[in-house]
Amino acid sequence: MKLIIIYIVAFGSLLFAMSGEEVFEKKCASCHNYYIPQNKLLSNFIDHNNTELNLTAPTLNQLSFALKDQVGDRKTDAESQKFEIEEFIAEYLKNPDKKRGVIPQKINRFFKTMPSMKGQLSEEEIEAVTGYIYDYAEAMMIEHGVKRYSYEEALKLARKEGKIIMIEGYIPYCRFCMRMDREVMVEPVVKEALNKDFLLVKKNLLIEKLPLGMKRLGTPSFYFISSDGKEIIDMIEGFGTIDEFLELLKSIKEEAK
Ligand code: HEC
Repeated sequence: MKLIIIYIVAFGSLLFAMSGEEVFEKKCASCHNYYIPQNKLLSNFIDHNNTELNLTAPTLNQLSFALKDQVGDRKTDAESQKFEIEEFIAEYLKNPDKKRGVIPQKINRFFKTMPSMKGQLSEEEIEAVTGYIYDYAEAMMIEHGVKRYSYEEALKLARKEGKIIMIEGYIPYCRFCMRMDREVMVEPVVKEALNKDFLLVKKNLLIEKLPLGMKRLGTPSFYFISSDGKEIIDMIEGFGTIDEFLELLKSIKEEAK
């Protein structure tokens, strides 16, 4: 009896074994790198004609952001867009054509056209790898970005550690929010400055309310709250470069004193 149960468990997990990550590792990663920070990619492609990194294909983070930005309707729900991206990838694997691709020409010009992988992936594998690529834009931020807290966690910790709460307001299809995530919030100097004196809370302003009765600004926007959770220190709207953002954090620290 025991043996049968073990067999069922093992077989069951076999059925679900091919996770998107495994498909990517087995069938895509020989050409597509996983994560390289966006600023490094820009420097490599835009300033150095791909001589710094000598990449042969777009990285996973490039694919994830480009597909989410360009394929299907960014403003519908995630499931419908994921489905459209799946169709796109299935078609691209069969009939690759750089001209119809989503990677901008100024970057794609360094690559050969992807070889066709017709018949090499099952529908399930395509679905799994699409989910993995789609989710990577967000997973990347959790892996490489600043640690995030829920507002309740941040309130508790802020009191204890004397840190300022910074709420980052975004909406899912805001391009400058994505640039903030990709180009600024993953940079070591920014992470260091934030980790030292701030606690990051992210709020999707389409569906979440701001505390202390604050009215939402355009996105991305940043709402700074004192460590006792009672006072609004400042509210700022807009994208900033690494230096501008560091400057902002410095001035908020001054204001908070
Ligand atoms: C033999 C190398 C190679 C393998 C293996 C490979 N790719 Fe690619 N892929 C490329 C290259 C080169 C490009 C860029 C040129 C182009 O767009 O055709 C590319 C581009 C892409 C694009 C973007 C096309 C666009 O819209 O601009 C997608 C999506 C993609 N690959 C998905 C995958 C997936 C998913 C797998 C694994 C199942 C995979 N690739 C496996 C080489 C490869």
